[in-house]
Amino acid sequence: MGKRVVVVGTQWGDEGKGKITDYLAGKAEVVVRSQGGNNAGHSITIDGERFALHLIPSGIFNPNIQNVMANGMVIDPVSLFKEIDQLAARGVKNFKLMISDRAHVVMPYHLILDGAFETLKGDAAVGTTKKGIGPAYTDKSARIGVRVGDLLDPVVLSDRIAANLAITNPLLKLMNKEPFDAETLLRDYLVFGERMRPFIADTSVYLNDAIEEGRKILFEGAQGIMLCLDHGTYPYVTSSSPTAAAVPLNCGIAPMAITDVVGVTKAYTTRVGGGAFPTEFEDDTSRRIREVGHEYGTTTGRARRIGWLDAVVLKHSRRVSGATGLAIMLLDVLSGIPTLNICTHYLIDGKRVDYIPGNYRAFAAAVPVYESFPGWTEDISTVGRFADLPINAQGYLRAIERLSGVPIVMFSVGPDRTQTVTLKQPFNDSDYEEE
Ligand code: GDP
Ligand code: IMO
Ligand code: MG
Repeated sequence: MGKRVVVVGTQWGDEGKGKITDYLAGKAEVVVRSQGGNNAGHSITIDGERFALHLIPSGIFNPNIQNVMANGMVIDPVSLFKEIDQLAARGVKNFKLMISDRAHVVMPYHLILDGAFETLKGDAAVGTTKKGIGPAYTDKSARIGVRVGDLLDPVVLSDRIAANLAITNPLLKLMNKEPFDAETLLRDYLVFGERMRPFIADTSVYLNDAIEEGRKILFEGAQGIMLCLDHGTYPYVTSSSPTAAAVPLNCGIAPMAITDVVGVTKAYTTRVGGGAFPTEFEDDTSRRIREVGHEYGTTTGRARRIGWLDAVVLKHSRRVSGATGLAIMLLDVLSGIPTLNICTHYLIDGKRVDYIPGNYRAFAAAVPVYESFPGWTEDISTVGRFADLPINAQGYLRAIERLSGVPIVMFSVGPDRTQTVTLKQPFNDSDYEEE
């Protein structure tokens, strides 16, 4: 049986999911993005060449892989074709892509509303990527969304746009914004529909067939569990669920179909956008991590906030999403830092807490309690085996396993595909180190 492996981000996003998906894609036959939209930014480095993907699954560089954008996604056709064109300009043209007819379309009014809501929220702004993600999922829930399949049917699309603008235009007027013209939208989005036609399919039927045929399937998470609409640091979250639990719903497959969950974890923590972040710190060490790790957003270019690794976050991720193994990323960035800290629990009002409180004032009041570890000075970017890591780096990885309760299956010592060490290959049943 081919395994069905989910790659999830266990922190606040940008853990290196793109790199791990591209790496594991070499072992898979199908790569699926199941949620989110072009708020995601997944960087992949192949032979020194860097690519940034936002909507397209990270299996795109392998021409044999069937890439799938599933029903749980929200897709902006403008962004989709920009990405396809940019990839083509760099020679990536030969790929297989399928888009769910049930995925929702990010429409131009969603971008306007995303920006306007952020402005109106003032100090309580979420710090979104302003890609229209929240308003697109809002319209999905409000049953006034446009789905990808609608773009192929002029009658349905006309009805869907009318149903939406009946609500969106009065809202825009209240905010002194220009209303949208139904005819113009209909014309423009039918054109997008024609361009998308070769890709559009019932991806649930395809994936169920692929499961029955025993194919190896990789599900590429976007965002991270702490940004989950249900289990993240609400309201400072995204509008979908990046957990492994959400994958079956977002793809139209059975929950039992998932065999493995790889929790992609940065060796420290970063966050972009607003919201409490207990282990955040800003000093020479955090600035060094930001520069060495190039911690600037792939999507928005914003400087990422930096913090120590937080085992409370990892335990929370394990609880709400599950993880059969961790992939520890950007370990090389920590070389040269004399002392490393991992948060083991919080103190809130003087009481020990080892879970993420639902109340954001309580979370903002959480004081991290650290266990400290000696660092290492060696450059580890060419290390190919666990045993070749400096002893203190080995100790740091073992501490992550102990504190999170999840075994490490991979670690990464640089952005390139080749800078990846596998302790247990998720698509195999046997354990081994190296390829
Ligand atoms: P994603 O959103 O989870 O796919 O992560 P991003 O691509 O937004 O951010 C991760 C960044 O770290 C990218 O710039 C990657 O190229 C880079 N990266 C991934 N793994 C490593 C690693 O092990 N070491 C270093 N130095 N960089 C890495
Ligand atoms: P990847 O897949 C990091 C954050 C935004 C903001 C919040 C809501 O690259 O890990 P949204 O535009 O989704 O409504 O913004 O979520 N956010 C991310 N942060 N990585 C991401 O994706 C993110 N996608 C959204 O910064 O705080
Ligand atoms: Mg990213």
